[in-house]
Formats: sequence, structure tokens, C-alpha cells
Amino acid sequence: MSKSDLPAFEKNLDHQRLITAWGDRQGESIRTGEHIYNNICFNCHGNPDQEGSMPNAFKFWKDEFKVGKDPYSIYQTLTRGYGSMPPQVNLTPVEKYDLINYLRETF
Ligand code: HEC
Repeated sequence: MSKSDLPAFEKNLDHQRLITAWGDRQGESIRTGEHIYNNICFNCHGNPDQEGSMPNAFKFWKDEFKVGKDPYSIYQTLTRGYGSMPPQVNLTPVEKYDLINYLRETF
């Protein structure tokens, strides 16, 4: 998805503030991220014990990130998609950063 196709609210986000805000609600953020991962991402990506349905889906625990592993890069992957990874158009910025927080703490 190219930048011009993004909804307006994605264009002027304070990413640093969203990342810093994790600290204020760490437990809740991780629980929200886990819930979203299990509902949306697990199906394709799986986890170390159980392979996902898409064999080429990125394995967070061993693959090398192509877009980047910092929170902002993962945010771009989620928002715009990458290769056969579909853009996650139904997630809000806070939900995406909760998910990223969970991924970084878990895998
Ligand atoms: C329809 C299946 C599918 C779903 C659902 C899905 N992904 Fe992916 N994802 C993929 C595939 C396939 C790739 C590998 C893309 C490539 O390398 O071309 C990938 C790659 C990635 C990458 C790696 C990008 C990089 O830097 O190399 C991240 C991060 C990622 N997905 C996160 C997520 C998260 C978080 C979710 C849940 C919101 C999710 N994905 C949902 C299929 C999926």
C-alpha cells in the first residue's frame, strides 16, 4: 500500500509518544497485544510450538526482518503490508503498538 492510500490519521502520528506510552499501561498493553496476535496473526504466523498456516509467513523467533525490527518499522509493515503480508487496516495505531510491544516482549 503506498503512502498516499493511507487514511489521513496515519499521516501525522506522534510515533515516539505512542511508544513511550507503553510504560504507563504495560500490563494492559501486553494483554491487548497478545489478544490481537492470537486472533489475527497466529493463524498465518503461528508460534515456536505450532507452525502457522502460511509456511512463508515470517517467524518472529528466528527469521531476519527485511523491513526492520524497530517498533516504527514493524508499524510500517502492519500498516502498509509487505509482500504477501496484508495491511492490517482494521487496527488502530494504539492497537498496532500494543501488538508490537507484545511481539518484542514475547519472541
Ligand atoms: C494472511 C496471512 C498473514 C497474516 C494474517 C499476518 N501476516 Fe505477517 N506476514 C505474512 C507473510 C506471508 C509474511 C512474509 C512476507 C514477505 O517476506 O514477503 C509476513 C511478514 C511479517 C513481518 C515481517 C516483515 C519484515 O520486516 O520482514 C511482520 C513484522 C509481520 N508479518 C507481522 C504480522 C502481525 C503482527 C500480524 C497480525 C496483525 C500479521 N503479520 C498478520 C502473512 C501474514
